[in-house]
Amino acid sequence: NGNSLGETKGRESFKSSFGLLAAAVGSAVGLGNIWRFPYITGVNGGGAFLIIYLFCVVAIGLPVMLAEFVIGREGKKDAIGSFKYLAPGKKWYISGVLGVLAAFFILSFYGVIAGWTLEYIVSAAGNQFAGKSAAEIGGFFTSFISSPIKPIIWQVVFMSITAIIVATGVEKGIEKFSKLMIPLLLLIIIILDIRALTLPGGMAGIEFLFKPDFSKINGKVILAALGHAFFSLSLGMGIMITYGSYIPKEEKLGKTALKVSIADTLIALLAGVAIFPAVFAFGIAPDSGPGLVFITLPNVFAQMPGGYFFSIMFFLLLALAALTSTISLLEVVVAYIIETFKMERKKATLISATLITLIGMVASLSNGNLSYIQIFGKNIFDFIDYLTANYFLTTGAFLSSIFFAWKLDKEVIKNQLTNQGAFQVDYIKAFYFLLKFVAPIGIIFVFLTEVGLI
Ligand code: PHE
Repeated sequence: NGNSLGETKGRESFKSSFGLLAAAVGSAVGLGNIWRFPYITGVNGGGAFLIIYLFCVVAIGLPVMLAEFVIGREGKKDAIGSFKYLAPGKKWYISGVLGVLAAFFILSFYGVIAGWTLEYIVSAAGNQFAGKSAAEIGGFFTSFISSPIKPIIWQVVFMSITAIIVATGVEKGIEKFSKLMIPLLLLIIIILDIRALTLPGGMAGIEFLFKPDFSKINGKVILAALGHAFFSLSLGMGIMITYGSYIPKEEKLGKTALKVSIADTLIALLAGVAIFPAVFAFGIAPDSGPGLVFITLPNVFAQMPGGYFFSIMFFLLLALAALTSTISLLEVVVAYIIETFKMERKKATLISATLITLIGMVASLSNGNLSYIQIFGKNIFDFIDYLTANYFLTTGAFLSSIFFAWKLDKEVIKNQLTNQGAFQVDYIKAFYFLLKFVAPIGIIFVFLTEVGLI
């Protein structure tokens, strides 16, 4: 039926392996890969950051995703309910509550950027970037995001679309849509890669992305890498726990987690390869922050045959990739409100989407009129982004990994992972080790470094 996942009487489950993969990849692949990854990499110095990021994905992100899948499939409920079911009377469910808070705040600024993509679809369709210099395209971005009304209108439009879908339920169409969309997005990025790589002077960008300069590494950089790994893989806030609860028994969790992680990382890398050569070819500063994609790619489009067509396609797909992520973010909050306050879905959606949009408006204004408000040297927008990814998600992931490795019955884990002999015992041991020691100690270490205690 058309109800949102998890809202039906019986437990719904994904029909096909590919549908499951598309849903999980749909949540993971979004603005995080194409907008956030390049800008975070740029701000944190390039190649060395990339190596640490990849390490975080493999050694911490992937195992944490597996742990979330197991907790969800065994708990058979949403993020909070699964903890309550697996550890009745204990406080572990607080990990789920943290996740809901994280989703709430992430969506507030995520909705703003998603709105930017709509403005860019319209501008691309109106051929606004053709014949403009890099400086003019940069100026267009800055004046757009700092203007008080326009970005907020687009944010409201985007949030309304998200809310309507969540209120009426995640239709099967969305799943089918993601299946079609992700490959299409991949194709367009590859075409952009080819154009970017052949730009004169572009190789400096590849060098920036892949040649590590280890002198740039410090606690902040490592925390940013870890935080982004969780952000990009949609971890630490219960989404994969919820999705795990819909995964049929026969499905191999390890394989699914591996595929989602590979797809997510691949798309981020391809986005980096499309963006950094252009950054250097057009003399844009690699550490220019959140505007990076919105400033560099229109320059690339303006310089390629068929650029008009590709620019529309690209921003359209970016908006759609964002939509599959905003839906999953809003769903976390709505599901929580429905269960906790026994509220009707429509009402819960309206209330949460409204609150989130209001906070997002403040974030949007902080790029312009409210930019004088600075928290730890960041405007409100950047501060929410920084705080949620680096602190909320890492804490959520920390609790999930501790719960999995130190609390969950070993037999349960074995059952979940060895069904049909899918997974070799050696692999389980390796995952177990990563979750028991590497992930929690790594997270604590990174925290302590960041606050200056190490
Ligand atoms: N992973 C999504 C992205 O990279 C963002 C997201 C984070 C979605 C957390 C859901 C939960 O864009």
